[in-house]
Amino acid sequence: MKVFSGRIKIKNYINSKKDSGFTFGFVPTMGALHKGHLSLVEKGLSNNDYVVVSVFVNPTQFDNAEDLKKYPRTLDRDVALLKTVSDAILVYAPSVDDIYDGNAKAKHFDFDGLEFEMEGQFRKGHFDGVGTIVKRLFEIVTPNDAYFGEKDFQQLAIVKKLVQKHEIPVNVIGCKIHREANGLAMSSRNERLKPEYKKAAPFIYETLKAAKMKFGTKSAKEVTEWVERQFAKHDLLKLEYFTIADVETLKPVKRKSKTKTYRAFVAAYADDIRLIDNLALN
Ligand code: PAF
Repeated sequence: MKVFSGRIKIKNYINSKKDSGFTFGFVPTMGALHKGHLSLVEKGLSNNDYVVVSVFVNPTQFDNAEDLKKYPRTLDRDVALLKTVSDAILVYAPSVDDIYDGNAKAKHFDFDGLEFEMEGQFRKGHFDGVGTIVKRLFEIVTPNDAYFGEKDFQQLAIVKKLVQKHEIPVNVIGCKIHREANGLAMSSRNERLKPEYKKAAPFIYETLKAAKMKFGTKSAKEVTEWVERQFAKHDLLKLEYFTIADVETLKPVKRKSKTKTYRAFVAAYADDIRLIDNLALN
């Protein structure tokens, strides 16, 4: 397994392998790898000769300096974990300068309104940062396929839009959410949960499942109000938003239609740690 920190070196290596006909999958990450990431890597390996895993905590997608500072950084452990998976993995762990050349600023993107819903309302500029880094990484890695988890469903939709609008020749593949046995969606942020919050956090998925049941017979408004009441009664978890949205536009549902597909989205705080999750409703 090879580890690169410079973009020129990894680009040259990838180009030489591509010239010999090899294909590349790509799993962009911010590190602190868990089983969810590894499942993306394994999927990439089943479709490609090599998989590139980038490990980069991207400063331009954080709207909160403290969150950026506290984000777990565990490169040695991440590399050791990837070594147990396959030799056909290339790790790209760049510095901020290798990516941004001394100008770590997000570019502005138009994602046809997807960027203004949910996460976009609570994390100002987040999707400009995501668009900037994902586009940059695609230019460096030039993968055949790129794998993104559905836990960040809005991010996945935005990356698909980025690729479509900028005509980037990569196949974007969304992968199912990986959960702990207790239902908690796997996330690098879970590492920072104190024990009592870790124990409480599966409430998020339990509530999503109950909301799905209720959505069979109740309106989106009724289900949303019910979820808000459940969180209001909870001692440890603080709801930021719960939204039932159309999967195409990500806009909140006003009136249910049999021809549309909906998903429930939630963001909640466990102490100072922000957790997100979502579930397909129909
Ligand atoms: O989902 C993430 O970990 C990040 O948003 C990504 C896609 C690696 C970009 O920094």
